[in-house]
Amino acid sequence: MKTLASRDLKPGMIIAERLYTPAGQFLIEKNSVLTAQMISHINFYKVPYASVKEDPFHTTGPNDFVEKMQPVYMTHAQQVKSSREYRVFEKSFRQKTDLLRSSLNDFIMRGTAMDTSVLLSAARDLFSSQQTTISMLDMLHNMRQIDDSTYAHSVNVALIARMMGMWMGYPESELDVLTLCGLLHDVGKAGIPNNIIGKPARLTPGEFEVVKKHPKLGYDILQSIPLDLRIRNAALMHHERYDGTGYPSGLAGEEIDDFAAIISIADVYDAMTADRCYRAGLCPFEAIALFEQEGLQKYHPKFILVFLQRIANSYVHNDVLLNDGETGEIVLINRHLTRPLIQTGPQRFLNLEKRLDLYIQAVI
Ligand SMILES: [Fe+2]
Ligand SMILES: [Fe+2]
Repeated sequence: MKTLASRDLKPGMIIAERLYTPAGQFLIEKNSVLTAQMISHINFYKVPYASVKEDPFHTTGPNDFVEKMQPVYMTHAQQVKSSREYRVFEKSFRQKTDLLRSSLNDFIMRGTAMDTSVLLSAARDLFSSQQTTISMLDMLHNMRQIDDSTYAHSVNVALIARMMGMWMGYPESELDVLTLCGLLHDVGKAGIPNNIIGKPARLTPGEFEVVKKHPKLGYDILQSIPLDLRIRNAALMHHERYDGTGYPSGLAGEEIDDFAAIISIADVYDAMTADRCYRAGLCPFEAIALFEQEGLQKYHPKFILVFLQRIANSYVHNDVLLNDGETGEIVLINRHLTRPLIQTGPQRFLNLEKRLDLYIQAVI
């Protein structure tokens, strides 16, 4: 057991001793696996320290303890995986990822002309195979457990960005540009040594400096083909942040292209689902909490608010498990997106905006 300052707590750590607020109110039970929402709570109540078990990530595999501690996390994911739609999507996703991999390799390694229309029609097919928002996100979360490559990530980002473009009401021609922005945003990673890109452990500061070159590298690679300028700019600017804290140039606000700003949100969302803590299935409310924790000022307000609201709203009428073990149905999304109104019985409603001791632990 070790004691950590609250700012050093990470999702997946296991609480070693019951946690109370400075006012003495009970907050989190011993042996709970920390989620982003719990950490938000700890910060909200200004709890300075918490005791966690030593090195939980190494004593138990992340999937193991998620399964042992919170078996219900698997339920929704298992339902998705056992569906016929999932098997069809999986096959199609693999084919499209292979196509992207070979097109980009041929283009970068052999200088072969890249046919963006082939890439685009592959992404369009994949997108139109999914009718509803929730199933698309569920499919992508599950694909993450199978293929962790930059190519699979690029397909994911393209599909999420296309969905965001639809939510913004963009016409079809713009959706196609946005999809290509997603497919090609990380093309510069082809110029970064494999031992750094594929490194399973945390990067050293020196290695991170090398990775930070991929936006400019991507922009340069794409210069040789006639493309909408926004596609090259998405490669260059997708790690810039609205508040000026990004790289490579520290651009801020409207200096960042709209399409690059959309790709940055899709990119971070997909990276969250790749995080080992969430392999067993990311709760969408957890994803929203993670964005809030990171700071919404980093993203363009006209995109991040629509994105998070749409995600939250796509889960209305889904059943959820609360941290006290009770289950219920989401009936209304409140202004505070992670705290909706839950119906737990024929005449019984819980407003999580008022019940700060409760939070959604999983979608079931
Ligand atoms: Fe990137
Ligand atoms: Fe990326």
